[in-house]
Amino acid sequence: MKQKILLLDDEASLIKWLSYALEQKGYSVFATTDTKDAIAEIKKERFDLIISDVRMPGIDGFEFLKTVRAIQPRIPFIFITAYGSMDSAINALRDRASDYILKPFSIDELDVRVRANISRPEQGPVKIIGTSRCMKVVLNMLDKIAVTDSTVLLLGESGTGKELFAREIHHRSKRAKCNFVTLSCAALPETLLESELFGYKKGAFTGASGDKDGLFKVADRGTFFLDEIGDAPLAIQVKILRLLEEREIVPLGSTKPSRVDVRLIAATNKDLAEELKRGRFREDLYYRLNVIPVVLPPLRQRRDDVPALAEFFLRQICEREDLGERKLLKDSMDMLQRYDWPGNVRELRHVIERAAILSDSYHIKTEHLGLPKIKAKSLTELQEDEIRRVVKECDGNITRAAKILGVARATLYRRLKQTNKRKK
Ligand SMILES: Nc1ncnc2c1ncn2[C@@H]1O[C@H](COP(=O)(O)OP(=O)(O)OP(=O)(O)O)[C@@H](O)[C@H]1O
Ligand SMILES: [Mg+2]
Repeated sequence: MKQKILLLDDEASLIKWLSYALEQKGYSVFATTDTKDAIAEIKKERFDLIISDVRMPGIDGFEFLKTVRAIQPRIPFIFITAYGSMDSAINALRDRASDYILKPFSIDELDVRVRANISRPEQGPVKIIGTSRCMKVVLNMLDKIAVTDSTVLLLGESGTGKELFAREIHHRSKRAKCNFVTLSCAALPETLLESELFGYKKGAFTGASGDKDGLFKVADRGTFFLDEIGDAPLAIQVKILRLLEEREIVPLGSTKPSRVDVRLIAATNKDLAEELKRGRFREDLYYRLNVIPVVLPPLRQRRDDVPALAEFFLRQICEREDLGERKLLKDSMDMLQRYDWPGNVRELRHVIERAAILSDSYHIKTEHLGLPKIKAKSLTELQEDEIRRVVKECDGNITRAAKILGVARATLYRRLKQTNKRKK
């Protein structure tokens, strides 16, 4: 389903251009030059974002915002304005709306703002599912760090929820009113990095037809999420490091530095210590980012969480696709719990989505899951995996491992002996 944006501006040509651009980006757009029209539509429809001009004949933007908030209190709202650099006016905008964007702006800039602000269906009120022993530890940490300004380094395999956690930290912090901006370090060509991060002044290079704020500026007073930091080439690592040290940006073509206040969250599925050893990751950057490391455990180490996650995704998909109610048969649930999930929670979500759509009946059977049978392990094998893992984590200390596993020392010894025999 497409996300819906309502666009209000008294300039018909601007509206036409913006609707076209936003539709190209995959949004569904309702655009109008008439405030009354806009209000009537908001009463009828649920939008994910509103973009509005400030100065309009009749009701002005602030009045319009007030009316909107009375109808949909939490809807993201972006002002378009030509106020320029009048600080008081900008602050007024910033306090009342979710964001603002200065005229003239490029489509890319608009896109960044829209993506940073639009409400995401899967993010709704963000819901992190997990009651297993290791997830409780992580969620406990989250409670403590979310409210602070500390730099967080999220580590974990692909699909374990790093981005979800990053967003949750932002939403629970005092920065929630400002932007959450993501920079994917792997996807960014080096040549674009500086202009993307620092922004530029009109005429700074061929093609710079207007001023553009960099992503760091967009994240000011909010959270900056450096995703896939382990994949950043060394040349980019240097630039990121310099920026983190100075916390100051100088747009290309300008000589005036300006301070930015951002909270940093970084994430990677790489083993950074290993990257460090191989000389692929800078030590100084590593220490700067590794202030509070949080390791998100792979799903195969928290199989207890699989049923709740599966049911949650199933309900979500059925609602989204209007499928009515669906249920996972016990065999199916067992199979899900035994599978190793190399793609973690994301893979589980996709398996459930596919199964719900393909099953075309109330019950979801094992064959609907499309999981390779060979990868499913027996419960005994799973227990043994878990035992070996915990013993290793405790550096072979049986007393401690037995305590964590909740069994007597003698029982643990016996199980280890059996495991070793089976392996021979
Ligand atoms: N504990 C959880 N509860 C509910 N949903 C979750 C949980 N963990 C992950 N998800 C969902 O699983 C999907 C993958 O999560 P996310 O994108 O955060 O993973 P990631 O660690 O950033 O992966 P990658 O390294 O591949 O970028 C998302 O749809 C996310 O909402
Ligand atoms: Mg991610």
